[in-house]
Amino acid sequence: MRLRISTALAIVCGFPVSADDFQTEADPGFEVFRDQCMACHLETGLGIQAMNAPSIAGLPRWYVTDQLRKFRSDQRGFHSADAPGKLMQANAVVLDERTIAFVGRHIETLDPNPRRKTTATQNIKGSEMLYQRHCSQCHKEDAMGDRTLRAPPLTSQQDWYLLKQIENFQTDKRDHGDYEGTKELSRDEIDSIISWIVDLPTRDD
Ligand code: HEC
Ligand code: HEC
Repeated sequence: MRLRISTALAIVCGFPVSADDFQTEADPGFEVFRDQCMACHLETGLGIQAMNAPSIAGLPRWYVTDQLRKFRSDQRGFHSADAPGKLMQANAVVLDERTIAFVGRHIETLDPNPRRKTTATQNIKGSEMLYQRHCSQCHKEDAMGDRTLRAPPLTSQQDWYLLKQIENFQTDKRDHGDYEGTKELSRDEIDSIISWIVDLPTRDD
Protein backbone atom coordinates (compact mmCIF):
# COMPACT_ATOMS: atom_id res chain seq x y z
CA MET A 1 0.00 0.00 0.00
CA ARG A 2 2.75 2.44 0.97
CA LEU A 3 4.50 1.48 -2.22
CA ARG A 4 1.55 2.56 -4.30
CA ILE A 5 1.19 5.86 -2.43
CA SER A 6 4.88 6.65 -2.72
CA THR A 7 4.91 5.66 -6.38
CA ALA A 8 1.91 7.91 -6.99
CA LEU A 9 3.62 10.75 -5.11
CA ALA A 10 6.74 10.21 -7.16
CA ILE A 11 4.76 10.44 -10.35
CA VAL A 12 2.70 13.48 -9.27
CA CYS A 13 5.38 15.42 -7.39
CA GLY A 14 8.58 14.04 -8.84
CA PHE A 15 9.83 12.61 -5.49
CA PRO A 16 12.53 10.04 -6.02
CA VAL A 17 11.64 6.48 -5.00
CA SER A 18 14.81 4.59 -4.19
CA ALA A 19 15.34 1.01 -5.29
CA ASP A 20 15.56 0.08 -1.59
CA ASP A 21 12.05 1.39 -0.81
CA PHE A 22 10.73 -0.50 -3.75
CA GLN A 23 12.35 -3.80 -2.75
CA THR A 24 11.31 -3.65 0.92
CA GLU A 25 7.71 -2.77 0.23
CA ALA A 26 7.21 -5.22 -2.59
CA ASP A 27 9.15 -8.17 -1.14
CA PRO A 28 6.56 -10.90 -0.48
CA GLY A 29 8.86 -12.53 2.10
CA PHE A 30 8.95 -9.31 4.10
CA GLU A 31 5.18 -8.94 3.87
CA VAL A 32 4.55 -12.45 5.20
CA PHE A 33 7.08 -11.88 7.95
CA ARG A 34 5.50 -8.55 8.93
CA ASP A 35 1.94 -9.91 8.93
CA GLN A 36 2.44 -13.41 10.34
CA CYS A 37 5.72 -13.65 12.22
CA MET A 38 6.76 -10.31 13.67
CA ALA A 39 4.32 -10.40 16.61
CA CYS A 40 6.52 -13.04 18.22
CA HIS A 41 9.88 -12.94 16.45
CA LEU A 42 10.05 -9.10 16.15
CA GLU A 43 10.93 -7.14 13.03
CA THR A 44 14.61 -7.87 13.63
CA GLY A 45 13.90 -11.60 13.97
CA LEU A 46 15.55 -11.56 17.40
CA GLY A 47 12.52 -13.07 19.13
CA ILE A 48 10.81 -12.56 22.50
CA GLN A 49 12.11 -14.82 25.23
CA ALA A 50 9.04 -14.24 27.44
CA MET A 51 6.99 -15.93 24.69
CA ASN A 52 9.59 -18.66 24.15
CA ALA A 53 9.97 -17.27 20.63
CA PRO A 54 13.60 -17.68 19.60
CA SER A 55 15.90 -15.52 17.61
CA ILE A 56 15.63 -16.74 14.03
CA ALA A 57 17.48 -13.86 12.31
CA GLY A 58 20.09 -15.07 9.86
CA LEU A 59 19.19 -18.77 10.01
CA PRO A 60 19.82 -20.26 6.57
CA ARG A 61 16.88 -20.55 4.27
CA TRP A 62 17.17 -24.34 3.91
CA TYR A 63 16.92 -24.82 7.68
CA VAL A 64 14.00 -22.40 8.12
CA THR A 65 12.05 -24.07 5.33
CA ASP A 66 12.85 -27.54 6.76
CA GLN A 67 11.53 -26.48 10.15
CA LEU A 68 8.39 -24.75 8.85
CA ARG A 69 7.54 -27.93 6.97
CA LYS A 70 8.19 -30.01 10.08
CA PHE A 71 5.91 -27.84 12.20
CA ARG A 72 3.29 -27.95 9.49
CA SER A 73 3.34 -31.74 9.18
CA ASP A 74 3.41 -32.39 12.95
CA GLN A 75 7.00 -33.67 12.96
CA ARG A 76 7.85 -30.84 15.32
CA GLY A 77 5.50 -29.55 18.00
CA PHE A 78 3.77 -32.95 18.11
CA HIS A 79 4.16 -33.52 21.85
CA SER A 80 1.23 -32.50 24.05
CA ALA A 81 3.61 -31.01 26.64
CA ASP A 82 5.50 -28.89 24.08
CA ALA A 83 3.58 -25.60 24.40
CA PRO A 84 6.08 -23.41 22.47
CA GLY A 85 6.17 -26.02 19.67
CA LYS A 86 2.36 -26.03 19.54
CA LEU A 87 2.27 -22.23 19.41
CA MET A 88 4.64 -22.18 16.45
CA GLN A 89 2.83 -25.07 14.80
CA ALA A 90 -0.39 -23.05 14.73
CA ASN A 91 1.47 -20.39 12.73
CA ALA A 92 3.05 -22.86 10.32
CA VAL A 93 -0.02 -24.89 9.31
CA VAL A 94 -1.42 -21.94 7.36
CA LEU A 95 1.70 -21.54 5.18
CA ASP A 96 1.86 -22.91 1.63
CA GLU A 97 5.10 -23.88 -0.14
CA ARG A 98 5.47 -20.56 -1.93
CA THR A 99 5.04 -18.58 1.27
CA ILE A 100 7.54 -20.80 3.06
CA ALA A 101 10.11 -20.17 0.32
CA PHE A 102 9.59 -16.39 0.41
CA VAL A 103 9.67 -16.02 4.18
CA GLY A 104 12.71 -18.31 4.41
CA ARG A 105 14.57 -16.02 2.05
CA HIS A 106 13.64 -12.95 4.11
CA ILE A 107 14.75 -14.49 7.42
CA GLU A 108 18.12 -15.44 5.94
CA THR A 109 18.80 -11.76 5.12
CA LEU A 110 18.28 -10.56 8.72
CA ASP A 111 21.36 -9.83 10.82
CA PRO A 112 22.13 -12.66 13.26
CA ASN A 113 21.88 -11.98 16.97
CA PRO A 114 25.14 -10.57 18.33
CA ARG A 115 24.10 -11.18 21.97
CA ARG A 116 23.25 -14.78 22.59
CA LYS A 117 24.30 -15.09 26.20
CA THR A 118 21.41 -14.46 28.58
CA THR A 119 22.47 -16.59 31.55
CA ALA A 120 25.53 -16.53 33.74
CA THR A 121 26.88 -19.94 32.72
CA GLN A 122 30.63 -20.17 32.45
CA ASN A 123 32.55 -21.38 29.47
CA ILE A 124 34.58 -23.81 31.52
CA LYS A 125 37.71 -25.71 30.62
CA GLY A 126 36.82 -28.75 28.55
CA SER A 127 33.68 -27.23 26.99
CA GLU A 128 35.16 -27.12 23.55
CA MET A 129 36.40 -30.69 23.83
CA LEU A 130 32.93 -31.89 24.83
CA TYR A 131 31.43 -30.07 21.87
CA GLN A 132 33.98 -31.39 19.40
CA ARG A 133 33.54 -34.96 20.65
CA HIS A 134 29.74 -35.04 20.67
CA CYS A 135 28.48 -32.43 18.24
CA SER A 136 31.03 -31.37 15.62
CA GLN A 137 30.50 -34.39 13.41
CA CYS A 138 27.23 -32.83 12.20
CA HIS A 139 27.19 -29.20 13.38
CA LYS A 140 30.88 -28.84 12.34
CA GLU A 141 33.94 -27.68 14.28
CA ASP A 142 32.88 -24.02 14.16
CA ALA A 143 29.19 -24.87 14.83
CA MET A 144 28.20 -23.35 11.48
CA GLY A 145 26.17 -26.43 10.57
CA ASP A 146 26.10 -28.74 7.57
CA ARG A 147 23.45 -28.38 4.96
CA THR A 148 23.90 -31.86 3.48
CA LEU A 149 23.23 -33.37 6.94
CA ARG A 150 20.39 -30.85 7.56
CA ALA A 151 22.20 -29.92 10.80
CA PRO A 152 21.70 -26.20 11.50
CA PRO A 153 24.27 -23.64 12.55
CA LEU A 154 24.12 -23.13 16.33
CA THR A 155 25.80 -19.72 16.26
CA SER A 156 22.82 -17.37 16.08
CA GLN A 157 20.44 -18.85 18.67
CA GLN A 158 20.39 -17.72 22.30
CA ASP A 159 21.49 -19.94 25.18
CA TRP A 160 18.00 -20.31 26.72
CA TYR A 161 16.64 -21.59 23.42
CA LEU A 162 19.53 -24.02 22.78
CA LEU A 163 18.99 -25.44 26.26
CA LYS A 164 15.25 -25.76 25.68
CA GLN A 165 15.78 -27.67 22.43
CA ILE A 166 18.33 -30.04 23.96
CA GLU A 167 15.86 -30.70 26.77
CA ASN A 168 13.24 -31.39 24.09
CA PHE A 169 15.60 -33.93 22.47
CA GLN A 170 16.25 -35.58 25.84
CA THR A 171 12.56 -35.89 26.65
CA ASP A 172 11.42 -36.96 23.15
CA LYS A 173 9.51 -33.75 22.48
CA ARG A 174 11.55 -33.18 19.33
CA ASP A 175 13.60 -35.51 17.08
CA HIS A 176 17.30 -34.76 16.86
CA GLY A 177 17.69 -36.13 13.35
CA ASP A 178 19.10 -39.63 13.86
CA TYR A 179 21.21 -38.49 16.76
CA GLU A 180 20.30 -39.94 20.15
CA GLY A 181 23.59 -38.96 21.81
CA THR A 182 22.30 -35.79 23.52
CA LYS A 183 20.36 -38.07 25.85
CA GLU A 184 23.60 -39.23 27.47
CA LEU A 185 24.74 -35.76 28.47
CA SER A 186 24.38 -34.41 32.01
CA ARG A 187 22.96 -30.95 32.68
CA ASP A 188 26.45 -29.68 33.56
CA GLU A 189 27.85 -30.97 30.29
CA ILE A 190 25.01 -29.35 28.33
CA ASP A 191 25.48 -25.99 30.09
CA SER A 192 29.17 -26.22 29.39
CA ILE A 193 28.71 -26.93 25.67
CA ILE A 194 26.15 -24.12 25.30
CA SER A 195 28.35 -21.60 27.07
CA TRP A 196 31.11 -22.41 24.57
CA ILE A 197 28.78 -22.13 21.57
CA VAL A 198 27.35 -18.71 22.49
CA ASP A 199 30.85 -17.23 22.59
CA LEU A 200 31.56 -18.30 19.00
CA PRO A 201 31.39 -15.76 16.19
CA THR A 202 28.10 -15.63 14.28
CA ARG A 203 27.92 -16.20 10.54
CA ASP A 204 28.68 -12.58 9.68
CA ASP A 205 31.42 -11.82 12.21
C1 HEC B 1 2.50 -16.63 18.39
C2 HEC B 1 3.97 -16.54 18.33
C3 HEC B 1 4.68 -16.94 17.05
C4 HEC B 1 4.42 -16.52 15.77
C5 HEC B 1 3.36 -15.56 15.29
C6 HEC B 1 5.43 -17.16 14.94
N1 HEC B 1 6.28 -17.91 15.71
FE1 HEC B 1 7.91 -18.95 15.05
N2 HEC B 1 8.20 -19.70 16.91
C7 HEC B 1 7.45 -19.37 18.02
C8 HEC B 1 7.90 -20.16 19.15
C9 HEC B 1 7.32 -20.10 20.55
C10 HEC B 1 8.95 -20.97 18.67
C11 HEC B 1 9.77 -21.99 19.46
C12 HEC B 1 9.25 -23.39 19.21
C13 HEC B 1 10.01 -24.43 19.98
O1 HEC B 1 10.50 -24.14 21.09
O2 HEC B 1 10.16 -25.54 19.46
C14 HEC B 1 9.12 -20.65 17.26
C15 HEC B 1 10.08 -21.24 16.44
C16 HEC B 1 10.29 -20.90 15.12
C17 HEC B 1 11.31 -21.47 14.27
C18 HEC B 1 12.34 -22.53 14.64
C19 HEC B 1 13.68 -21.89 14.90
C20 HEC B 1 14.79 -22.88 15.06
O3 HEC B 1 15.91 -22.45 15.38
O4 HEC B 1 14.57 -24.09 14.87
C21 HEC B 1 11.18 -20.87 13.05
C22 HEC B 1 12.04 -21.12 11.81
C23 HEC B 1 10.07 -19.95 13.13
N3 HEC B 1 9.56 -19.99 14.40
C24 HEC B 1 9.63 -19.18 12.08
C25 HEC B 1 8.44 -18.45 12.11
C26 HEC B 1 7.85 -17.84 10.95
C27 HEC B 1 8.46 -17.85 9.55
C28 HEC B 1 6.68 -17.24 11.36
C29 HEC B 1 5.67 -16.52 10.51
C30 HEC B 1 5.15 -17.24 9.36
C31 HEC B 1 6.56 -17.48 12.78
N4 HEC B 1 7.64 -18.22 13.20
C32 HEC B 1 5.51 -17.02 13.57
C33 HEC B 1 6.42 -18.44 18.09
C34 HEC B 1 5.84 -17.82 17.00
C1 HEC C 1 24.43 -37.10 13.78
C2 HEC C 1 24.30 -35.65 13.57
C3 HEC C 1 24.16 -34.73 14.77
C4 HEC C 1 24.93 -34.68 15.92
C5 HEC C 1 26.12 -35.56 16.28
C6 HEC C 1 24.39 -33.60 16.71
N1 HEC C 1 23.34 -33.00 16.06
FE1 HEC C 1 22.27 -31.40 16.70
N2 HEC C 1 21.08 -31.52 15.07
C7 HEC C 1 21.24 -32.40 14.03
C8 HEC C 1 20.17 -32.22 13.07
C9 HEC C 1 19.97 -33.02 11.78
C10 HEC C 1 19.33 -31.20 13.58
C11 HEC C 1 18.05 -30.65 12.98
C12 HEC C 1 16.88 -31.42 13.59
C13 HEC C 1 15.55 -31.00 12.99
O1 HEC C 1 15.46 -30.94 11.75
O2 HEC C 1 14.62 -30.73 13.76
C14 HEC C 1 19.95 -30.77 14.85
C15 HEC C 1 19.43 -29.75 15.66
C16 HEC C 1 20.04 -29.30 16.81
C17 HEC C 1 19.56 -28.21 17.62
C18 HEC C 1 18.34 -27.35 17.36
C19 HEC C 1 18.74 -26.00 16.78
C20 HEC C 1 17.58 -25.09 16.56
O3 HEC C 1 17.80 -24.00 15.99
O4 HEC C 1 16.45 -25.41 16.93
C21 HEC C 1 20.42 -28.07 18.66
C22 HEC C 1 20.34 -27.06 19.80
C23 HEC C 1 21.45 -29.09 18.51
N3 HEC C 1 21.18 -29.82 17.38
C24 HEC C 1 22.50 -29.26 19.39
C25 HEC C 1 23.41 -30.30 19.31
C26 HEC C 1 24.45 -30.53 20.29
C27 HEC C 1 24.72 -29.65 21.50
C28 HEC C 1 25.10 -31.66 19.90
C29 HEC C 1 26.21 -32.38 20.65
C30 HEC C 1 25.93 -32.73 22.03
C31 HEC C 1 24.49 -32.13 18.66
N4 HEC C 1 23.47 -31.27 18.34
C32 HEC C 1 24.90 -33.24 17.95
C33 HEC C 1 22.24 -33.34 13.90
C34 HEC C 1 23.18 -33.66 14.86
